[in-house]
Amino acid sequence: MCGIVAYIGSRDAVPLLVGGLQRLEYRGYDSAGVAVVGRNGELRVRKAKGRVGQCLADLPARFKGSPGIGHTRWATHGEPSDANAHPHVAGTVAVVHNGIIENADELRAKLAADGAVFASETDSEVLAHLIARAQADELEEAVRQALQEVVGTYGIAVVDAARPDRIVLARNGSPVVLGIGEREMFAASDVAALAGHARQVVHLDDGELAVLEPGGFRTFTLEKRATTKLPSEVGLDEESYERGEHRHFMIKEIREQPAAVARALTGRLDTRFHTAHLGGLNLDPREARAVRRVKIIGCGSAYYAGQIGAQLIEELTRIPADAEPASEFRYRNPVVSPDTLYVAVSQSGETYDTLTAVQELQRKGGRVLGLVNVVGSAIARQCDGGIYLHAGPEQSVASTKAYTSMTVAFALLALYLGRIRDLSPDAGRRIANGLKALPGQIERILAQEDRIKEVAGALAEYRSAFFVGRVRGYPVAREGAQKLKEISYIHAEAYPGSELKHGPLALICPERPTVAIVPDDELLAKNLTTLGEIRARHGRILAVAHTAPGPALADDVILVPKNEPELDPILLSVPLQLLAYHAALALGHDIDKPRNLAKSVTVE
Ligand code: F6R
Repeated sequence: MCGIVAYIGSRDAVPLLVGGLQRLEYRGYDSAGVAVVGRNGELRVRKAKGRVGQCLADLPARFKGSPGIGHTRWATHGEPSDANAHPHVAGTVAVVHNGIIENADELRAKLAADGAVFASETDSEVLAHLIARAQADELEEAVRQALQEVVGTYGIAVVDAARPDRIVLARNGSPVVLGIGEREMFAASDVAALAGHARQVVHLDDGELAVLEPGGFRTFTLEKRATTKLPSEVGLDEESYERGEHRHFMIKEIREQPAAVARALTGRLDTRFHTAHLGGLNLDPREARAVRRVKIIGCGSAYYAGQIGAQLIEELTRIPADAEPASEFRYRNPVVSPDTLYVAVSQSGETYDTLTAVQELQRKGGRVLGLVNVVGSAIARQCDGGIYLHAGPEQSVASTKAYTSMTVAFALLALYLGRIRDLSPDAGRRIANGLKALPGQIERILAQEDRIKEVAGALAEYRSAFFVGRVRGYPVAREGAQKLKEISYIHAEAYPGSELKHGPLALICPERPTVAIVPDDELLAKNLTTLGEIRARHGRILAVAHTAPGPALADDVILVPKNEPELDPILLSVPLQLLAYHAALALGHDIDKPRNLAKSVTVE
């Protein structure tokens, strides 16, 4: 949600900034801009509504120089427009900002009374004016003073044409990563923008500022206390961030799932004791045995993965477990109890609602594990222990491989907790073998892409669809509906099959097809009854099933390989991703950048 980049060194900043912004476009794509200190020491700014490629193509030669900062925006305050695009400028100072300044109106009124003239409707512009007006020789002191006045969240990068030997960055609630190169320094909201340029990275903490000069960096707190940071390796090559031969990042990421799942499992299955090795949990067996409840929190697809996780944990450990949207949890003063294990799940590790829910839990003494994809992200660092997903970078706004890896990580956690409680070695072996089979089974689903594409083409003709599933199939249906609506814009609603007759059956008609999740498990007969109820109302049915229900009950079927019943939801979700992708493709939508959405929701 908004991406910032910065560069200082002997190269021209603009091509590096534009390349970095393109890698960060998943964070927002309604406008973009750069500010660079030109070779004659003047501030050059280009910003406009639109995508990075449109706004920043063909910048004239006068944009050569360094340092420079750049931004890709997802509007919060002020509609997408040229004026509201970042950087914002006051005098010789230019600022890019990710986050929300809560007291912007008050600050704006004060600054305007003092003669400041505002060029935009954004909250961010107050930062530029505050910094330009601060009484300080050093840019970092001006930034520090300005930030004392600000209430809210920010990741900022600041250049000043009058003090061109440095860039100043600061973080509070919105990520900032520094990248160390050869006599050059970078910074960005995400390592994605740094891969291929920086040798090592450093994550700023909340309340920290950094000064970048070509030869290095230093960090300190808002209270002027110097801090020590240990650089870590970037760990990912540039290729992981490229689309390669794939038409969209989403399809690339769908196809990467066999490898992503294999990575999530690597070194984590114990064939001797039929359990899972989860080194980062930071929870010894005695503590794990004392757990009386498990509460999972996450947002969107991460929440649906959490619902699958809760069922896995409850089934394999017999510990009561449930999942709740982190965005709701944090607003309702929940009871926090010491014998509950809390689990926060997030791809980006930045989602503000999830992060603040974790902080609230910890404030009340809750112990929180994180299931997180992005290494070193805020949620990963905030949690008391956890499991990294190792899904690799996910750039499509619609989550696919990270979602699947979350469900696999939950299965590992359930296996570990189960085996130190009363899950038998045989049952442990059954689950471990099921997990090992997943990558090959996902390959078999992906091999059906052409067939799923055909079915998706037919689905794309409708304006609205139902998704139904029971118990293990219900979160699968919810995630399927979520995928379809976010990229195809077809209205999609998920219901437990058991609930249809309590209301939604009224909407079943030939114009509204149903995607039914029909695993071969103890609820098969019940699910088939649901299909019968829908058919009796002339509703079309696409069954995602282990065995074809027969033409009398389904118009179309996508067959999914059978695993263990507890693990089946992991596989049943995969064809629904392909279904949504190909429906959106048939409708000609911008799949990786769906309207109104951005990845990494770092605001409330
Ligand atoms: C949907 C999607 C979102 C995210 C949600 C949480 O495809 O990607 O619903 O799952 O915004 O994001 P993370 O997992 O980064 O916390």
